[in-house]
Amino acid sequence: MSRPSFSLPPSDLPNMTASSVDAIRTLDKNGKEITSVGFERFGFDCEVPLDVVRALYLRPHYVMTASSGNDEALDTKEADAHARFTQGHAAYQSKSIFHPETQSISYTTLSRFPPVKLLAPSARKRVLVTGGAGFVGSHLVDRLMLLGHEVTVLDNFFTGSKTSVSHWVGHPNFELVRHDVVEPFMIECDQIYHLACPASPVHYQFNAVKTIKTSFQGTLNMLGLAKRTKARFLLTSTSEVYGDPEVHPQPEDYWGHVNPIGPRACYDEGKRVAETLTYGFHNQDNVNVRVARIFNTYGPRMNPYDGRVVSNFIVQALRGQDLTVYGDGSQTRSFQYIHDLVDGLIALMNSDETRPVNIGNGDEFTILEFATLVRDIVEKVQKEDGVKLERRVQIIHEGLPQDDPQKRRPDTTRAKASLDWQPRWTVRMGLEEMVRYYKAKMAEGSL
Ligand SMILES: NC(=O)c1ccc[n+]([C@@H]2O[C@H](COP(=O)([O-])OP(=O)(O)OC[C@H]3O[C@@H](n4cnc5c(N)ncnc54)[C@H](O)[C@@H]3O)[C@@H](O)[C@H]2O)c1
Repeated sequence: MSRPSFSLPPSDLPNMTASSVDAIRTLDKNGKEITSVGFERFGFDCEVPLDVVRALYLRPHYVMTASSGNDEALDTKEADAHARFTQGHAAYQSKSIFHPETQSISYTTLSRFPPVKLLAPSARKRVLVTGGAGFVGSHLVDRLMLLGHEVTVLDNFFTGSKTSVSHWVGHPNFELVRHDVVEPFMIECDQIYHLACPASPVHYQFNAVKTIKTSFQGTLNMLGLAKRTKARFLLTSTSEVYGDPEVHPQPEDYWGHVNPIGPRACYDEGKRVAETLTYGFHNQDNVNVRVARIFNTYGPRMNPYDGRVVSNFIVQALRGQDLTVYGDGSQTRSFQYIHDLVDGLIALMNSDETRPVNIGNGDEFTILEFATLVRDIVEKVQKEDGVKLERRVQIIHEGLPQDDPQKRRPDTTRAKASLDWQPRWTVRMGLEEMVRYYKAKMAEGSL
């Protein structure tokens, strides 16, 4: 692997000696330490040091508790815990101060933005990210910003949140626009990552008609924009287009097994019609398109209350509550870590591959195995942090929701052949980081 393309100067915060605390070591599938995310491929360099991106999400707006009503007298234990995550990049995070006596909080904004790469104008892309304030979008935005591109986020904040990208607000390369993609939007741009769409069953079933409208009308609008500006267009489709598959693992030429009138149809069929539209514009109007079929992805900034299995299990285990498995837990899932997905999306956007490409991690777990793994990792992290466990959480079972797929695993042969992309993060490593993220959120009282 080549060297990280740039590094940040260390923070100048007083009282936080990053060298005095152990860094969190992250190992890839081959046991090699991961020190950066991304790579240079298809003439597009997307590599940045891991601790730099980590500093933006592990405790981005962390709250320090004023120990004696004095903003400067911060709790040193909190400061040390924080330095473990950021390893000297703390100056690029906003530090809000919580005052316990008055139950108030003084929000702070960044005094300095994280340094971004200085690109020649010919190398700098104008990138539109719809849904950029959501879980996946915000990580993509962090990466594109650090790489020195001009990024516009378009989001109606239905499931996304301003706080996930607020560390870039005010930066000259960044714009945040509150807008619903079902309405037309015009902007000059070179690349469009079209993510806007609620992704968890709780959210997409909240208003099924709106979900399908977002998928159809929103994609139509963004494809129209791509046609007019000659921008390259990438649709984030989903493994849900395969429905409850009869083929295992699922290659891209499998047509799927979807119930068109079931509770998941607004999302599944919405994405299927979005793909149809995308190839309609490609074939009729020569729009340069990419379609990523994303499989289950997890990572920091996932909404902990949206019912997805990873966040459900971690939050339950951290709270000492029993883990709820739907059905007998023999259904399988594969889980991909967010950085692998962002690598895959950027590689696909900059490649010549116009066919749909599965992006996911093929390591398959039964839900029961996965619950046990989460419990083990939460216990390990709690132990490392000196937390005494009151009792071992149990795994309990509840009824299976309708149309819950029994098996899901990507066939990523195409991604390997066309993009030279394969997931690097083990589920264990990703989960450990997620646990630390939620733990930090709980410690600051925001979860
Ligand atoms: N996370 C996964 O595991 C996964 C798997 C498959 C596909 N995907 C796809 O990736 C994309 C992002 O998913 P995510 O997990 O980040 O979900 P998310 O809900 O966190 O993000 C979606 C974002 O889109 C915004 N949005 C929704 N409707 C909108 C509208 N009408 N106009 C403007 N903005 C709107 C939301 O406010 C949010 O910021 C989605 O298209 C989803 O279908 C995600």
